[in-house]
Amino acid sequence: MKISMIGVGYVGLVSGTCFAELGNDVLCCDIDERKIDMLEKGEIPIYEPGLQEMVHRNVQEKRIHFSTDLKKAVDFGDLIFIAVGTPAKDFGQSDLKYVYSVAKTIGEHLDKDRKIIVNKSTVPVGTAQEVTKIISDELKKRNVSYEFSVVSNPEFLKEGDAIDDSLRPDRVVIGANEDWAQKVMTELYQPITKNGHPIFLMDTASSEMSKYAANGMLATKISFINQIANLCEIVGADVEEVRKAICADKRIGNYFLYPGVGYGGSCFPKDVQALAALGKKYGYLAHLVEATETTNEQQKEVLANKVIKEMGDIDGKKIAIWGLSFKPKTDDMRCAPAINIIEKLLAKGAKITAYDPVAMENAKKIFNSRICFVDEMYDCLDDAEALIIITEWSQFREPDFSKIKSKLKFPRIFDGRNIYSPERMKEYGFNYISIGRGGGVF
Ligand SMILES: NC(=O)c1ccc[n+]([C@@H]2O[C@H](COP(=O)([O-])OP(=O)(O)OC[C@H]3O[C@@H](n4cnc5c(N)ncnc54)[C@H](O)[C@@H]3O)[C@@H](O)[C@H]2O)c1
Repeated sequence: MKISMIGVGYVGLVSGTCFAELGNDVLCCDIDERKIDMLEKGEIPIYEPGLQEMVHRNVQEKRIHFSTDLKKAVDFGDLIFIAVGTPAKDFGQSDLKYVYSVAKTIGEHLDKDRKIIVNKSTVPVGTAQEVTKIISDELKKRNVSYEFSVVSNPEFLKEGDAIDDSLRPDRVVIGANEDWAQKVMTELYQPITKNGHPIFLMDTASSEMSKYAANGMLATKISFINQIANLCEIVGADVEEVRKAICADKRIGNYFLYPGVGYGGSCFPKDVQALAALGKKYGYLAHLVEATETTNEQQKEVLANKVIKEMGDIDGKKIAIWGLSFKPKTDDMRCAPAINIIEKLLAKGAKITAYDPVAMENAKKIFNSRICFVDEMYDCLDDAEALIIITEWSQFREPDFSKIKSKLKFPRIFDGRNIYSPERMKEYGFNYISIGRGGGVF
């Protein structure tokens, strides 16, 4: 099929490339000339494991092309995907200006019947209808009439596993109000669904809601276990033991219940806020969703509070940080808890030296020269009075503890992800402080 992907960020570039990998002819289009320039030179603007090889292969085999020309993208695809950002506005609602601007451009240039406009961006219920209206209004202005359908196809990929999630998804969700469009979408995903990955066909409103409900649920799991961790500290329980005990219940399950420094990234924070805002818009207070968000904001303070409580006055003290991205295997720093933690420590006068395997370029845009960055993880540690682990990159899981101890001024580790065992840390002689396993500071 001929596909145009408008918006070539974390979602658009991965989805576009995966559609090309499945044999489709894909034109990826973005207004960001720098991104398109990089892609045309064979460079990949984001870090995503396996993406570079897949883009190169599909460029070579001429199944993927790049452009900044939106009109060309509207002409090219029989399916026109919208994968632009939908950031949060002041009161949590999704800012749909990028989606609407693309819809307007589509309406200005559409000149063929039966094109399908597929919304992959995360958007509130009603957006498919609004996009339909914007395109129809533009067609009316031009005095032309073409049959088209706006479909919702929310994206559930996880950064860091995005390719696997796209080619082997837990599910594909299609919201389509027209049968002919639903049929084309089903055919598009057939190479994936025939391998046993389920497809759910529904109306656009249910499809749009599915994405927010999924992210709301996942974020709630994180806030829930973080509250349990904090309660564990108060009552002298160990959250890791509690976690094992509750996860053994099949109704609860083993996934996504890890205490830590709070969730971040480009999706959960804004999607939880948008879900709460959606409720408010209709006069419904989604208390649980709001509590998820409030709990998370508090949780982002927990690790820095532990550092301040343990170390006292940190003015002028050097502190080492491992991990900056909001989670491993991505360079994405959007709403990363590392930002809150580091800002709090900087405000108290700490001198921060940080290492992250891939997110340092993006982190530099946030912190500039206010913190130091090093290219090697152990180089952070020289003369530091503590090591803080914020992101659980795999190379931090089994480091050379003797080396850490010899380099640190004090053998002190604050672990925001509970990746080490307290017993082992005790054997090495570290003062080890983690989440929900003693300390009573949050
Ligand atoms: N990042 C994720 O893990 C993820 C996962 C699932 C869903 N989503 C959702 O997918 C959407 C995109 O997220 P993302 O992380 O890829 O965003 P992103 O910020 O990485 O990329 C968005 C891209 O859209 C481009 N853009 C904006 N306006 C444009 C226009 N008028 N024409 C062409 N291009 C335009 C931007 O230049 C940018 O490159 C959001 O709604 C997000 O919530 C993201």
